Formats: sequence, structure tokens, C-alpha cells
Amino acid sequence: MNYPGDFMSTASEYLHRSKAYDVYSIRADFPILAERSNGKPLVYLDNAATSQKPRAVLEAMDWTYRHAYANVHRGVHTLSERATKAYEDARTRVQRFIGAADPREIVFVRGTTEAINLVASSFGRTNIHSGDEILITEMEHHSNIVPWQLLRDQTGAKLRVAPINETGELVMEEFERLLNERTRIVALVHVSNALGTINPVKRIVEMAHAMGAKVLVDGAQAVPHMRVDVQDLGCDFYAFSSHKLYGPSGVGVLYGRYELLDAMPPYQGGGEMIRRVTFERSDYAKPPTRFEAGTPNIVGPVGLAAAINYVEELGLDNIAAHEDDLLRYATEATAELPGMRIIGNAARKASILSFELEGIHPHDIGTIVDHEGVALRAGHHCAMPVMDHFKVPATTRASFGLYNTREEIDAFIASLHKVREVLG
Ligand code: ALA
Repeated sequence: MNYPGDFMSTASEYLHRSKAYDVYSIRADFPILAERSNGKPLVYLDNAATSQKPRAVLEAMDWTYRHAYANVHRGVHTLSERATKAYEDARTRVQRFIGAADPREIVFVRGTTEAINLVASSFGRTNIHSGDEILITEMEHHSNIVPWQLLRDQTGAKLRVAPINETGELVMEEFERLLNERTRIVALVHVSNALGTINPVKRIVEMAHAMGAKVLVDGAQAVPHMRVDVQDLGCDFYAFSSHKLYGPSGVGVLYGRYELLDAMPPYQGGGEMIRRVTFERSDYAKPPTRFEAGTPNIVGPVGLAAAINYVEELGLDNIAAHEDDLLRYATEATAELPGMRIIGNAARKASILSFELEGIHPHDIGTIVDHEGVALRAGHHCAMPVMDHFKVPATTRASFGLYNTREEIDAFIASLHKVREVLG
């Protein structure tokens, strides 16, 4: 009885095994891509919302439920030990994937949203007080705005927002101006889900640290598209979700520098996160256990580890090159469409094409292209301030994943012609 995936393999072994990037054989790894949608071949271009799962992930999870499922960290019986090993191996796999120094810096959470709420609540309540400042950017997802507003309202701290320009890039001079010795934390997105902009995180971390501020990075859209090394970035916290990285939903990661996590109070109370409980007081466990109250998502991390194995076997650099090619191809092809306005033209962009077609509501576009088998997202993408900035109620968004092809982009463009035909 062997694990279907060896979660402990090192990234360098995977790089060594990296094979030529053959998108057609890659597609065969994803059963759902063979589905038809409205009688047409499925063209799935909603990867920024969530990505599809390769057989390796489905099988790792199925195998765990069949052969290694029990509660973790609790039982002395063999099955519990097996489940605990798979869960903790997955933690080490994540640590290596993002270049963290220690597996204890990896906290399993429900997803990016919970990771940010954890930091805002636990780090925030301890370290951010009235008169302090929290600095975010105008391109943040609601999950990196609302938790800080809640903290602001509880503490009397000030929430400051660094603006973006017309291409959808952060205005660095303004960011620098807003950063000051009262800034306790800078919270920003690595890759914008609404615009595709890649932020200069390393530089921002250096600037923030020079002011004595900590930095939290929302990496939800970054980890599927590029190699991330948290020690190289120098950030204090990094958050991402499994489900956008070809892993299961319901599990995600908060990376935090150990000494910061160790000084933070619990986020939630419950089983497992304690050392000893009496009615008078409770002593808390060390991180990461301190932040994993209750029965966790037991099998999710195993699926996430299998997804990490999968993308590392393909090679993150190969994936990035493939997706850059798709983005360039789609950007050039859509430029010829009458009334097309691309929202977000940053010099450094990843995998996202947000646009409006003059005179046509994004929801109508999304509905018509769906009849052609094309899955896009239409809406505000949980980034209403970005929509306000560009003075649009919503955009239509195509987002590309490691399995998409140029032929699919041709089908997407053809479906936009269909929209014009139907709605004029
Ligand atoms: N945040 C996800 C998106 O951009 C759901 O679609």
C-alpha cells in the first residue's frame, strides 16, 4: 500500500524530472476537460475563480479516504498515525513549495480569506492600536479590504489606500508617500485577480521593513502562475488557496514568520490548539497547532500536496511561459474586436484578461458565450474599488490556466463575435 504521490519529494527532484511542456497530454490529466457544455467542447477560462483538478489530485484524495482516513493528531491507532503522517507530510511539502524556513510556519486554513482574517484578527488585535495605520492598495480583493476595515473599526487605527494608475499599476510614489512610521502593516495582492497586475512585492517589502512595518501578501492568484519564494520576497505573511492551484477547495495556507506566529494569540479556540485547559485558564499550543482549532480539513492538504507535486513536475517556469504566451495571443486577438477595452494593461501581468465590450453588459456576454461552451466570469470579481476606479459596473474576465490552448482562445474570440452578432 503506497501513497499515490510521494509528498516528500524535493522540488529539485521534480525540476530534474521536468518534461517538455505538452499541453495536449497535460489536458488528458484533467478528466473534466473532456466534458461538453451546451453541446460544445468545454472551453474553461475561469481559472482565476477556481481551477480544475488533475487525476493525481483526485486519486491522492480518494486513496487517503480509502486507506488512511482518521482524525489527525489525536489517535494512537495505526490509521490515525497514517492520516497524521499524510497531513504533516503535506505541510512539509507546502513549506518547500514556497521556500519557507520551517514547516511550523505553515498554517492550514480554509483559504486565502481565512488566512487574512486570521492575521488581521490575531496579529492586528495585538499590534495595531488607535493612531496606527494599515496600508493596502486600490487593487485589493474584498478579502484584503474588509478584514482591515473590521480591525480599523475595532481599534481606531487608520486604513490608508495606495492608488493605482490607468494601466492598473500601483502608483509607487503615492505608496511611498503613504508609508510612514505609523504604518504597522502593509497588506497587498501579489497578482491582481481583476487586472492581472503583478506587484513588485520584493521592493515593497524592503520599503515597508525600512519603516518598521510588517507585510502580508495575498498570493491567491500568484502561486498557480509563478515560482514564489517567501524568504526571497522577505514578506512576513503570505496567504493562498489550494483550489486555484489545481488542488481541492476548502483548504489554504497562511505562511507566517515563526517568531511572529509564536507571539500571536489564537484566532479561534477549541480542541487541539491548547496544551492544558482548566475553567480558570487555558495554555495554548505552539504554532501552527495554535491556529488550527478543531478537526481540520484532513484530506484537503493531501490533495494540495498532490497538486503541488503536479505543478512542480510540469515546472512553474514552464507554466508561466505557457500562460504568458496565451495572454499575449489573446490580448492581440481581442484588440481587433470593435468596442473592446481591456481593463488592466500593466507592464507585468499574469494570465488575466479583463475587458468591456462597448454597449454590452458583461452578464450578457457571459451568458451568450456560455451557449458556445466558453466559461468566463462576469462581475466585479470581488474588487468593487477596481471597478469604481475604471468607472465600470463590472468586467468580463478570461483567465488562463496551465491546460488552456491557443485553439481555445480562438473559440473564445469566435464566441465574442457571436455576442456582437446577437446583440449588435
Ligand atoms: N477571487 C476569485 C475570483 O477572482 C473568486 O474569481
